[in-house]
Amino acid sequence: MALREVLRFPDKRLKGISKTINDIDAKVRELARDMIDVMYDEPGIGLAAPQIGEPLRLIVLDTEWTEEGKGKAPLALVNPEIIERSGTIIWTEGCLSVPDFTADVERSETITVRGLDLDGKELQEQATGLRSVCFQHEIDHLDGILFIDRISRLRRSLYIKKRKKSLRNESVS
Ligand code: NI
Repeated sequence: MALREVLRFPDKRLKGISKTINDIDAKVRELARDMIDVMYDEPGIGLAAPQIGEPLRLIVLDTEWTEEGKGKAPLALVNPEIIERSGTIIWTEGCLSVPDFTADVERSETITVRGLDLDGKELQEQATGLRSVCFQHEIDHLDGILFIDRISRLRRSLYIKKRKKSLRNESVS
């Protein structure tokens, strides 16, 4: 089956607020599988459902698999919420929905995240460093926030200009 397409900035669907999932049914589990396939294919370490056009509060991530010798360990989290934060960290972020750009973003260093797994069981995890950043980045997507919304206005406007130019070139060729 074909992989689902990742929406790219400035697609308006990336700005929407995603809906809480009330029923973890076969459709939600299938969506999570599709998201995991897309994440590994791109490749990325995380993906949020609105990035493939599904405005639902579901994220997947795997911060282990790119490291040598480690197997794939995907996590799917339904209705994720950050319930505790501490410290500050600056990380250079990128996003599958924001082509050809990375920037330093300030986030909480350590977080506790809570949500449901695909069987509806409650999960809670404390994360720090890259994994913490990844959770915060993916949960932002559920609220229509991209990492470029968390950088300076100047850097954002430079990116938007560059992106518009490359889109114009794409449509010409
Ligand atoms: Ni992203």
